[in-house]
Amino acid sequence: PLSVHHVPPERATEEVAVVIDVLRWTTTSIIALSNGAAGIEAFATPEAARIRAQEIGALTAGERNAHRIPGFDLGNSPTEFTRERVQGRVICATTTNGTNALLAAQGAAQVFLAAFVNLSATAQAIRALAPRGVEIICAGSEGKPSPEDSACGEALAALLRGEPCEVSPLSVFRRAPHAAHLMAQGYTRDVELAAALDSIPLVAVCRDGRVEADVAG
Ligand code: MLT
Repeated sequence: PLSVHHVPPERATEEVAVVIDVLRWTTTSIIALSNGAAGIEAFATPEAARIRAQEIGALTAGERNAHRIPGFDLGNSPTEFTRERVQGRVICATTTNGTNALLAAQGAAQVFLAAFVNLSATAQAIRALAPRGVEIICAGSEGKPSPEDSACGEALAALLRGEPCEVSPLSVFRRAPHAAHLMAQGYTRDVELAAALDSIPLVAVCRDGRVEADVAG
């Protein structure tokens, strides 16, 4: 079976789960990995992220209300995750919706992180696995579906079925309240980066609680 959850389920039950939070956490994470971050771990609370980061010498990253959490090294804007800042570093992250969606996905044998930026690469990697079941987990927004995650999830599902994908991220963002909110807060560049379909041919896999670039992918 292949299903799209428009909001995170309590837990994943299929062999493969794919987590999507286009604006911005999965996009930001994929960009961080493409700039050489060693891995990303997700936490429900700033406190948990802080404690773990201290333990392992990692960077703290995350947002509440779109802005960097006080005392954290990084926020959740992909523009912050430059090679200079993240190369070789593990990142302990907590965000409003995206990191919780990853925590919900942990029941699956294989967990991927996807966004428009790595859509085709992710579809290709999953098709190569020929899994028995795939569930696409959209982060949504505080328990409600969000148009950008749902559109990305449906586009990935189409690719996995071998159908053509005709998605235009920018037109999706035009009807996405969170895109408007981010632009109003000065994060227009983040929305542009998130719209760059297949700009990063990288597969992001979560193993033992840490998201890494899949070199074999
Ligand atoms: C989230 O996890 O809710 C987000 O990625 C929010 C954001 O930083 O735009």
